[in-house]
Amino acid sequence: MSDASPEKNTALMEKIVSLCKRRGFIFQSAEIYGGLNGCWDYGPLGAELKRNLKEYWWRKNVQEREDILGLDGSILTHQAVLKASGHVGGFSDPMCDCLLSKARLRADQIEPQSGTAYWFTGASHAESGWSVEREYGVLAMAGDDENKARKTARQYYAQFLSDKQISPKTLELIGERTEVVTETTRFNPENGSLLTEARAFNLMFQTRMGASSDDSDESSIAYLRPETAQSIFVQFKNVLDSSRVKLPFGIAQIGKSFRNEINPRNFTFRSREFEQMEIEFFCRPEDGLRLTDEWLERRLTFYEEIGIPREHLHVLDIPDGERAFYSQKTYDIEYEFPFGIQELEGIAYRSDYDLGVHQKGSGKSMEYFDEETKEKLLPHVVEPSAGCDRTVLALICEAYDEETVTDEKGKEEIRTVMHFSPRIAPIKVGIFPLLKNKPELVDKAREIQRLLSPFMNVFYDETAAIGRRYRRQDEVGTPYCVTVDFDTIGENGEELKDTVTLRERDSMKQERIPIAKLREFLLDRIH
Ligand code: GAP
Repeated sequence: MSDASPEKNTALMEKIVSLCKRRGFIFQSAEIYGGLNGCWDYGPLGAELKRNLKEYWWRKNVQEREDILGLDGSILTHQAVLKASGHVGGFSDPMCDCLLSKARLRADQIEPQSGTAYWFTGASHAESGWSVEREYGVLAMAGDDENKARKTARQYYAQFLSDKQISPKTLELIGERTEVVTETTRFNPENGSLLTEARAFNLMFQTRMGASSDDSDESSIAYLRPETAQSIFVQFKNVLDSSRVKLPFGIAQIGKSFRNEINPRNFTFRSREFEQMEIEFFCRPEDGLRLTDEWLERRLTFYEEIGIPREHLHVLDIPDGERAFYSQKTYDIEYEFPFGIQELEGIAYRSDYDLGVHQKGSGKSMEYFDEETKEKLLPHVVEPSAGCDRTVLALICEAYDEETVTDEKGKEEIRTVMHFSPRIAPIKVGIFPLLKNKPELVDKAREIQRLLSPFMNVFYDETAAIGRRYRRQDEVGTPYCVTVDFDTIGENGEELKDTVTLRERDSMKQERIPIAKLREFLLDRIH
């Protein structure tokens, strides 16, 4: 997080969100219908960026390793899987509702408050003879007008009026008493209204499979997976038997997960539909702790390789008592987002818990037979679990920059530039003919486009002055731009014929490069 004030960080985040929309990185889902809360659509550039991240993760963690295999499991998940894993009974947040506004709040995130609670047993309306009996309370903070609490109570009781012509102001409150309260979380900090008791709210999206019209048919219930990990555990034996791998080995998966988050917030950071990039690395029990530390280092290196420097990452060693009961070690990797230091990835040593619960739940052995020691064992697992959307957001926040630059005429201007690493940049090279009305320049630029586009995402642009075209590419983080000019087509002699101007985004330096060397030059830098 930058050292800037909270206001500056909020303003920075607003600029980032606005650029994401303006340049086609990220849009709100169903925006034209008012938006679907907690869901996001990646636009043309966002889709490229996300794909580049996923492809690099897959290459590094699956294709370049002999000991990790890929999986692409189904999103719809058998209820038995999630019962065994504990998600059906336990994957929940404590929630309470405001009795007045009906807003739903996370009970464990309510700031404790002190003041005077005004309690009532009901309300009545003398003229119509209407009355309601219900206990209700309002918290008045020090300095609040006591009539404010009564006004809130009248609004609450007015909800039960069948005659909506009756004004809440005309209601008589019954049984008023007061109580001094300290550090309470029973009232809504927004309006002082009493909240319902906290109850567990399961975060999973439930659905029904098949054509059964009977809603009471429990067997038709299925879930959208809340994490990609479970299909890896459930398919452990099939992968083992079909691939004949030896411990330690991993199974990796990238895919969508769904959680009905109570408060989706901070742009894409906490969404209801998101992608995870998870590895379950199975090992012998004695190797678990060492491998957890090794994975932490490997994952930190990965973030550096995609352009998130280590100094902007924080490692949280989750203390005893805060980890899951089966975990002997858990690290969180956090990033300095403009809205605070927040989790990007968890690396958890989960012992044999997951294979154990599925062995018990399914009645099928999940054991591994060690050929050398002739021993059967239930492997332990180390799980590096990263959020794809969160990493994309971190990449965007990290890349965003505003620089003051001086143009050719000596005028200062602000250059908005995304310093994406060439490896993950959505567009690798912009290709420009100097003039659009000179067919030889256009033909040559199109030829270069055809030369490069089978190997990388390129962008052809012939509109506006060259300076403007550079700026447009800076703003979306294109690391290189190529300009075809009169030298390229040999109008100024043979020496520079078939060379182009290559302009580098961060330094803005320009150099001449033969077209014949372009592909190799770019591939070396974007791989
Ligand atoms: N299998 C372990 C697991 O799912 P988690 O900490 O709940 O662990 C792992 O999730 C990662 O998934 C998080 O570090 C985060 O990057 C991402 N993630 C979790 N919930 C998310 C949400 N609501 N929106 C976006 N990303 C989320």
